[in-house]
Amino acid sequence: MRGKETIVAATETAGTTRRDFLYIATGAMGAVGAAAAVWPFISQLQPDASVLALSSTEVDLSQIQEGQIVTVKWRGKPVFVWNRTAADIEKAKATEISALIDPVARNANLPAEAPATDQNRAAEGEGREKWLVVIGICTHLGCVPIGHMGEFDGWFCPCHGSEYDSAGRVRRGPAPENLAVPPYSFVSDTKISIG
Ligand code: FES
Repeated sequence: MRGKETIVAATETAGTTRRDFLYIATGAMGAVGAAAAVWPFISQLQPDASVLALSSTEVDLSQIQEGQIVTVKWRGKPVFVWNRTAADIEKAKATEISALIDPVARNANLPAEAPATDQNRAAEGEGREKWLVVIGICTHLGCVPIGHMGEFDGWFCPCHGSEYDSAGRVRRGPAPENLAVPPYSFVSDTKISIG
């Protein structure tokens, strides 16, 4: 396993309420596997739609080391934020669209038909392509994939074996779609707001 998952503090804002969250704190396979197994159940226990619609999550990128993937929570869902290395980016850029299972970017910040190039998957802007932000829910049946695992150097889903590459694009099924990129923007050079 390359790199590790780590703790990150993020702030979620919903209307006038504000709560601090500490996030997923381990690279231990068992803990990550357990999270994958229980996600569909936990997802039944979320706040109502009016609260979710207002919520956004700010993430301090300065805490994320090169090569690390951290997990934050946004509207009750895990979101992976990856500070990719040059090698991760290069590999993703070298992949032809024709080699992808899902050729569509699935990026909420772009038009629906945008192709799944690395540029369309990663953060936009000078010096920001190292940041990959994706919803951490497998597009097959909703398990939480494990980072830095699998043949394509992205994520491996322990439930049925789907694999994603270093742009979060599905490269081995049964998952049908790339990991979704949520709406987000930079509020400073070192902070993003998801939602
Ligand atoms: S839920 Fe991920 S492969 Fe089935």
